[in-house]
Amino acid sequence: MANTAELTVDGKSYSFPTLEGTEHEKAFDISNLRDQTGYVTLDRGYKNTGATKSAITFLDGEQGILQYRGYAIEDLAAKASFLEVAYLLIYGELPTKDQYAQFENSIRRHTLVNEDMRKIFDGFPVKAHPMGVLASLVSAMSAFYSDLEGSSGEDKTDLHIIRLLAKLPTIATWSYKRSQGHPINYPKNSLDYIPNFLNMMFSLPVEDYKIDPVVVEALNVLLILHADHEQNCSTSTVRLVGSSQANIYSSISAGISALWGPLHGGANQEVIEMLENIKADGGDVAKYVDMAKNAKTTGFRLFGFGHRVYKNFDPRAKIIKKAADDVLTKLGINDPVLEIAKGLEEAALHDEYFVSRKLYPNVDFYSGIIYRALGIPTNMFTVMFAIGRLPGWIAQWKEMREQKEPIGRPRQIYTGPTLREFVSLENR
Ligand code: ACO
Repeated sequence: MANTAELTVDGKSYSFPTLEGTEHEKAFDISNLRDQTGYVTLDRGYKNTGATKSAITFLDGEQGILQYRGYAIEDLAAKASFLEVAYLLIYGELPTKDQYAQFENSIRRHTLVNEDMRKIFDGFPVKAHPMGVLASLVSAMSAFYSDLEGSSGEDKTDLHIIRLLAKLPTIATWSYKRSQGHPINYPKNSLDYIPNFLNMMFSLPVEDYKIDPVVVEALNVLLILHADHEQNCSTSTVRLVGSSQANIYSSISAGISALWGPLHGGANQEVIEMLENIKADGGDVAKYVDMAKNAKTTGFRLFGFGHRVYKNFDPRAKIIKKAADDVLTKLGINDPVLEIAKGLEEAALHDEYFVSRKLYPNVDFYSGIIYRALGIPTNMFTVMFAIGRLPGWIAQWKEMREQKEPIGRPRQIYTGPTLREFVSLENR
């Protein structure tokens, strides 16, 4: 491969280095483009912009490949626990038994949240969306766990990582409990990570919650599938905010806000609402496919379809579709919405509009059906995504710091008025 790229601008030639990643994706290094040529690049939505070099996650959208630290997502989903995957993403290698025991035990012992954070939580309206509450409370953690550097200046990042992983599920369950008018549950450190979350969600003072291994396994797979996805919108947000040297809590809080949007993680809630609407409207799948094809006039998109980088299939959707079938069968649930989802997928996959635009079901298309079967309410779906994505955000934030990346600061092409004279208020 050539190691320079030639560019001719205004009759002058410039050369720029090229580089290649370990999986052979190629880039032009244009760090000096403006200095040399006076030009910047314009790439709305960063469709072609590599913002960083990263050793965490590899994905190939054309081939439908996703790997965390070199391990195939299919393998990890089938064989690993969510906390093993979290360790892998954050520290680069699968943990040894001892490392795992220590990591898991530290998380177990940090699940309790500062009691005063409940006062902030109590100030939210009962109907507040749990994603807004989650982002606010994670941001508030920077005030409650403000020992961002030890007294001797030592790096306490590992402690903050443990706190985030341990406390996010605890905080996440608060909104749900209050929306039901139920008392909030404290974590139980005798329980493992996912059972502890389920217990905080569903146990009542009057009735214990029986933890079903089918539910635990399904959640384990879902959390692993969501754990990282290289430089997506929320992760880029975490890295960008962190690049100003903002603390880890503020950076992750910003990521949660970015995830909330319906074009990103918020799509999982939109999918179920869309499927419910189709069901209520008589289940006419073709009508909705037609509406989506005329998105420009109808403003309607098939939520859970399309992806910025997957243009063949989303490997996570493949695993989730099978998991949805398995979970519903094992739990003996017959959800008509699953049939509508399959009908929609079938219709769209054979339609020229979707085929030519390479629009396939994404991770969010079937995940909501599983969450629903597990008893998780719709407005908590994106919160589940956030719990899953947390290790990825942490890993990316940590890598960005360790690589000592400069502050993120894109350029622009200014299109506003040119210099004009100020006219004082009385003359306007
Ligand atoms: N339904 C109907 N048409 C669609 C859809 C859809 N879901 N997605 C894209 N298209 C069409 C667009 O209208 C456009 O058509 P055109 O070429 O005639 O103008 C073409 O496909 C390309 O779409 P873009 O929006 O340019 O693609 P982009 O890569 O910018 O967007 C995105 C990707 C945001 C995921 C988009 O496909 C979408 O809005 N999907 C629905 C929301 C969703 O499911 N988001 C979750 C993504 S996964 C995640 O974040 C975890």
